[in-house]
Amino acid sequence: MRVLVTGGAGFIGANFVHWTRRHRPEVELTVLDALTYAGSGESLGDAAPLVQGDIADAALVDRLVAEHDLVVHFAAETHNDNSLSDPSPFVQTNLVGTFTILEAVRKHGVRLHHVSTDEVYGDLELDDPERFTESTPYNPSSPYSSTKAGSDLLVRAWVRSFGITATISNCSNNYGPYQHVEKFIPRQITNVLDGLRPKLYGDGLNVRDWIHVDDHNSGVWAIVDKGRSGETYLIGADGEETNRTVVEAILRELGQPDDAFDLVKDRPGHDRRYAIDSSKLRTELGWAPQYSDFAAGLRATIAWNRDHEAGWRPQKDATEAKYAKAGQ
Ligand code: NAD
Ligand code: TYD
Repeated sequence: MRVLVTGGAGFIGANFVHWTRRHRPEVELTVLDALTYAGSGESLGDAAPLVQGDIADAALVDRLVAEHDLVVHFAAETHNDNSLSDPSPFVQTNLVGTFTILEAVRKHGVRLHHVSTDEVYGDLELDDPERFTESTPYNPSSPYSSTKAGSDLLVRAWVRSFGITATISNCSNNYGPYQHVEKFIPRQITNVLDGLRPKLYGDGLNVRDWIHVDDHNSGVWAIVDKGRSGETYLIGADGEETNRTVVEAILRELGQPDDAFDLVKDRPGHDRRYAIDSSKLRTELGWAPQYSDFAAGLRATIAWNRDHEAGWRPQKDATEAKYAKAGQ
């Protein structure tokens, strides 16, 4: 099988390539990645050939798609805070880029797996007993989540109107190696390593449903292997934690007092809580997460960041300068 991985130099895409190399050595991989600020050829290493290019470049995408049997589409602009300061690249990459891929898979009869987020469903109250399922109505809050929602709807329409073969997954918040220091967990780990205090938005009580990136990627492979075209599958590992609990765990692990954090300005429109019911993926496709112990996975991620400073150091100062300007 020849697989084109878009966004394979980013956090989840690079982990997907490494996971595939370990578990599916027979699969041929090509990465298409624009190497934006979020992409790094070093995360990918020599695990797969890299074509540097834009998913909205129709001629390039057409040529690459024609040479593959499957596209696994991770490439996106992904950071909510950036989408609030400048939504434009989110519209371009997440919507126009996904449209460009859809047109190529339609023309060449190539299968697509579209990687998306649970943020398309909006948020839940802290005390809501419900969790997101595949039938929860779309209700995105931010430019990031609304462009991801739009990309999901494009995929659904191309399945129905043009008969392309495609599946969609919506996953909860990932953590693990190679995540950019702008994101919550690596930002707070590297802050503590740098002698800076972790920064919690608002009251710090927003809840995210954490999943290890390898569990996300094993879920993607379960869908590629056994999923039905036109279907959406939610991927989640029952990992709900408040942001404050996560920061306290990081501080403890790095030998600091639990309360050595700052509460800072809240994110506008900040989603309160995400929570995923992944029964469909577990029951229909037999998937189960391997990293059921969030505390252990977090410890491993702290150790990984401590041991891989060369990977995140070049981005750290610029990232913190951007946050400082926003008062966060
Ligand atoms: P990331 O920001 O770390 O990586 C994105 C990658 O896409 C980068 O390598 C970047 O260079 C590339 N890219 C951006 N624009 C491009 C373009 N126009 N053409 C080609 N490449 C381009 O993101 P991530 O966290 O790895 O997320 C990957 C996917 O998973 C995204 O679609 C995201 O919506 C989805 N997702 C992420 C999470 C999460 O917690 N991080 C959770 C659920 C779903
Ligand atoms: P983030 O990693 O940006 O992911 P998302 O917005 O996609 O969930 O943020 C995760 C949570 O952490 C979210 O509730 C916002 C919060 N947060 C902070 O409290 N402080 C920070 O410095 C960052 C980056 C995020």
